Amino acid sequence: MGYVIATANMKGGVGKTTLTVNMATCLTKNYGKRVLVLDLDSQISATLSLMSPVDFAKLRKQRRTLRYLIDDIINPSSRAKLTIRDIIQAQVCNLPGLDLLPGDIDLYDEFVVSEMLHQQAVNLGENEFETIWNRFERVLLGKILEPIREEYDFIILDCAPGYNLLTRSALATSNFYILPAKPEPLSVVGIQLLERRIAKLKESHEHEAKIDIQMLGIVFTMSNANFLSGRYYKQVMQRVSQDFGEAKICQTQIPTDVNVAKAVDSFMPVVLNNSGTAGSKAFFQLTQELLQKLEYVEREKQQRTNLEFATS
Ligand SMILES: Nc1ncnc2c1ncn2[C@@H]1O[C@H](COP(=O)(O)OP(=O)(O)OP(=O)(O)O)[C@@H](O)[C@H]1O
Ligand SMILES: [Mg+2]
Repeated sequence: MGYVIATANMKGGVGKTTLTVNMATCLTKNYGKRVLVLDLDSQISATLSLMSPVDFAKLRKQRRTLRYLIDDIINPSSRAKLTIRDIIQAQVCNLPGLDLLPGDIDLYDEFVVSEMLHQQAVNLGENEFETIWNRFERVLLGKILEPIREEYDFIILDCAPGYNLLTRSALATSNFYILPAKPEPLSVVGIQLLERRIAKLKESHEHEAKIDIQMLGIVFTMSNANFLSGRYYKQVMQRVSQDFGEAKICQTQIPTDVNVAKAVDSFMPVVLNNSGTAGSKAFFQLTQELLQKLEYVEREKQQRTNLEFATS
């Protein structure tokens, strides 16, 4: 079975999208994995990192974006004609195995969602509006992904900054999350805030379902050290390491590299566009490290199962 992995941090501009699209590409290009990227941010950065604005505009006109699938769940009487398979863009960047579920600048209307859930609560005679809301956010992305979940080795969910409905739904449906962060205090606060929110998310759902998500790793991005910044960055990273444990910090850091940012102009990630640069090499190495972390988690899980089996 494949993995669903969310890339998240409450803080904006820390490299979530860049990490998502480069990791997805490395997994396909170097490891032959089947990967789907989901753009959950109305800034559509992941979409525009993998396809041109002209191609995106065409898809949007044909309603072939995530918005259509969310609409279909919010308003089931709309009798959707398109399925997730019609909307997924296969082989983006001409890379077989790399697929994209394009995002949209308008993903959903909070007011319409609240109204629909309120109506549901009234119809069901449920006075626990919170229970209905929790259930909705827990199943939303899971339902959308269900028909194709088994077809991919990795589904990577690019979350928006902050903590909106889609981020909560992404965390509720993922096996793991990766936290990119700049080695700066505010970015670190973003990690702490997200950690607290995830603990609360697990708690508020526990009487209905178990949310099983685990942190895969914290990745420091845009962290070039020179003689002025080096010591300071190191101190911040040490603090994070003390807070979350050394094992959670990825050894590979992503340096600031203008080629990484420039790659967006060519509508493909830097690891495809300019694979010899410092940024690309870091993404290749990071992908290898994350795969090793996954292997380690799986081995541990297997050992626990064996132990439970032996002692039962
Ligand atoms: N390693 C890097 N070197 C140079 N520029 C980078 C690097 N990583 C990201 N950037 C640039 O920094 C900006 C923010 O990156 P990105 O969009 O990936 O962050 P984000 O966390 O997804 O942002 P948001 O919270 O707005 O979704 C982008 O312009 C991106 O091109
Ligand atoms: Mg982003």
